[in-house]
Amino acid sequence: MTGRAAVLAGLGVYAPPKVVTNDDLAADLDTSDEWITTRTGIRERRVADADLATTDLATEAGARALKSAGVDQVDAVLLGTTTPDRICPASAPEVATRLGLTHAAACDVSAACTSFVYGLANGTGLIAAGIAERVLVIGAETIFRFMDPQDRTTSVLFGDGAGAAVLRAGRPDEPGALGPFDLGSDGSLADMLAVDAGGSRLWGPDIPREAHFLRMDGREVYRHAVQRMVASSQQVLDRLGWGIEDVDRLVGHQANARILEAVGQRLGVPAERCHINVGRYGNTSAASIPLALGDAELAAGQRVLLTAFGAGFTWGSTALVWPHIDVI
Ligand code: COA
Repeated sequence: MTGRAAVLAGLGVYAPPKVVTNDDLAADLDTSDEWITTRTGIRERRVADADLATTDLATEAGARALKSAGVDQVDAVLLGTTTPDRICPASAPEVATRLGLTHAAACDVSAACTSFVYGLANGTGLIAAGIAERVLVIGAETIFRFMDPQDRTTSVLFGDGAGAAVLRAGRPDEPGALGPFDLGSDGSLADMLAVDAGGSRLWGPDIPREAHFLRMDGREVYRHAVQRMVASSQQVLDRLGWGIEDVDRLVGHQANARILEAVGQRLGVPAERCHINVGRYGNTSAASIPLALGDAELAAGQRVLLTAFGAGFTWGSTALVWPHIDVI
């Protein structure tokens, strides 16, 4: 490989301190710890207090990533989120300003649970094109509050959190170089996982209460998530010329332990190489991949495959050889 690559230079993670267990949810909802853990692997999730918004979590994770990379300026901030503070303006400029990034371009990346991988791809593009030398890519969500507390089919699945990566310009053959990327979407299935209110299609004072919450066809989402993450991962492996035995760690979007196990099995990645932390955080959407990278205890030199799937539908995968970095 020749040319200019984006290289992972730092990683920071942040989850709000408040823990909500399955038993806590079961106190007000017709569900149980047994049902949730058996069907999803989720045991608890972090939930941001009402006075915290997505930019608060994103700023904390971003500060940690900058520290991890040992830099205090970047040329662009890409904030992957499904739950921006406001529909207008984007949340990324506020995060950039709060981080003291005075010369950074800043915008949000909206691809639901795939947003962080899309952010990495966009950051890679800015660097490869010579538009930026350093990019801060963040995935952050306060998504728990978008669940209808009366809907047991969604409210047990999601949690809040944030993670961020600093990318720098480098060579494609050095550890930390990202790529290739496989990205895709299928908008014909948009209705299967959606928050209907608040956009231009459904806006105003007379919107039904439920329209403000996330609704989902869980079974269909499950099926497509497995299929897409497997096919997308395989694309990246084929383009790299890696066999399955070359994958030291598979870090997939943490929606459900059973989805991740199925993806690993279909690809042929042994279970001990598939990192699963959904039990601690639930599905944190755009934050899930960086949060998982944060506690996967990756060693320098390990070959890591990333894959994600989300509403839209959207999906994306990439790979890297893990660099020498300290996760903060
Ligand atoms: N507690 C107890 N029972 C519940 C429940 C809960 N939290 N949620 C649903 N149920 C019930 C259903 O009402 C249903 O009851 P019924 O048979 O009497 O109708 C039963 O459990 C089975 O529901 P079903 O939806 O078939 O369960 P499932 O095994 O498909 O698991 C999900 C449901 C949501 C866990 C699963 O479909 C899933 O993980 N989907 C993907 C979700 C996801 O990851 N989305 C984000 C992707 S980015």
